[in-house]
Amino acid sequence: HCAYRWSPSLVRRKLGTFVHATYHTAVEILEDGLLGVDTEGKIAFIGSGKEVDRLYYPKAHFVVIDVCSEFFMPGMVDTHIHASQYSYAGTALDMPLLQWLNMYTFPVEACYKDLEFARNVYTHVVKRTLRNGTTTACYFATIHTDASLLLGQIANDFGQRALVGKVCMDTNNFIPHYKETPEESEGETNRFIGELLKKKYPLVRPVVTPRFAPSCSATLLGHLGEIAQNNDLHIQSHISETKEEVSLVKELFPDYDSYTDVYHRHNLLTDKTVMAHGCHLTDGELKLFRETGASIAHCPNSNISLCSGMLDVRRVLNHKVKLGLGTDVAGGYSPSMLDAVRRTLDTSKALTIQDTQYHTLTFEEVFRLATLGGSQALSLDENTGNFEVGKDFDALRVNTDAAGGPIDLINHGEGPKVYVAGKRVVPFVERP
Ligand code: GUN
Ligand code: ZN
Repeated sequence: HCAYRWSPSLVRRKLGTFVHATYHTAVEILEDGLLGVDTEGKIAFIGSGKEVDRLYYPKAHFVVIDVCSEFFMPGMVDTHIHASQYSYAGTALDMPLLQWLNMYTFPVEACYKDLEFARNVYTHVVKRTLRNGTTTACYFATIHTDASLLLGQIANDFGQRALVGKVCMDTNNFIPHYKETPEESEGETNRFIGELLKKKYPLVRPVVTPRFAPSCSATLLGHLGEIAQNNDLHIQSHISETKEEVSLVKELFPDYDSYTDVYHRHNLLTDKTVMAHGCHLTDGELKLFRETGASIAHCPNSNISLCSGMLDVRRVLNHKVKLGLGTDVAGGYSPSMLDAVRRTLDTSKALTIQDTQYHTLTFEEVFRLATLGGSQALSLDENTGNFEVGKDFDALRVNTDAAGGPIDLINHGEGPKVYVAGKRVVPFVERP
């Protein structure tokens, strides 16, 4: 690329291409476009390259870069990923969810008591997801407060936008030492939130994180709902991932109308809530999601790897429930959001094979879910998700001149450049 120098006597060269979703269209392509980023990393202008002349004088501090052979797209938003499970991603997918949690997940998560172990894995997962083009991630850590704070620090240091959750659970029959009492969980959640907010990391926020109803007593769910409400915080958990889990919740919470009702009655369904999976939700439950503004993180790699279910994304969207995509490492074996895009399409196509009348998701719709849809699902779309004036410039810069085209480039080459809030972060290389 080269800096574009304004001169009235020169024939103007074409400027950059911007590909993004808008609130009205799945994909908008702005060719010969111009985007200005201010000194705080916010988008100050987006429009036609023809306007470069008009911009030059009043906004003299703008650097205008000619990027004819490249395009920009918004950074991708991973709405559900377990940072702590990155250490065994790609292994141990030979049993269904509830057994998988007991056999592999809880024993590994218990290791995060050791801060050096945590530092090593968390550094790798933040770097890897950034390289894969994830500019925003919504993380589960473990029950350990100090290690969860460390994850927040590492995301901040590498320049990734992140919601970070200290996991809360007071029920664990299989690994009794990997759990808390409701009082410990409440106290440590308050400490986690207080300490993380004190750091004033510009890109990192805490998220209240009950693991899921089978791991939490009603008392604990109540405490967490109250903490989230009193501090106006994000909330994340899991819901209706497998049929076995749905039956278990019915047994554990017999006085509630549904799995969704368990969270709802503890004030855990708000417009800042994101629930992973939701493969087996009823129409009534989806209605409750719509009414409360809660969203779903669709994690197709995980749903297939653990044989959990096939979420009908079209049905969720028809219910006007917000939905983003997640990798769900390590139930999902890939930390790449491009993988989540491909698996979302695969799942949708598989539903079409079963029912030829099914209206398969388009590539454009899935692109939207991976970017703007994810930022809406996390209620972060005031700051990120697409290229609108006032949002932070979270972007991937893809060079189409590279041999093989952009997709091969993402798979095998050096890869696009990644920006968060206007700043270049680690080089992008996807290793699926
Ligand atoms: N439900 C409760 N905990 C987990 C987890 O760690 N992974 C997945 N996929 N589902 C869960
Ligand atoms: Zn999960």
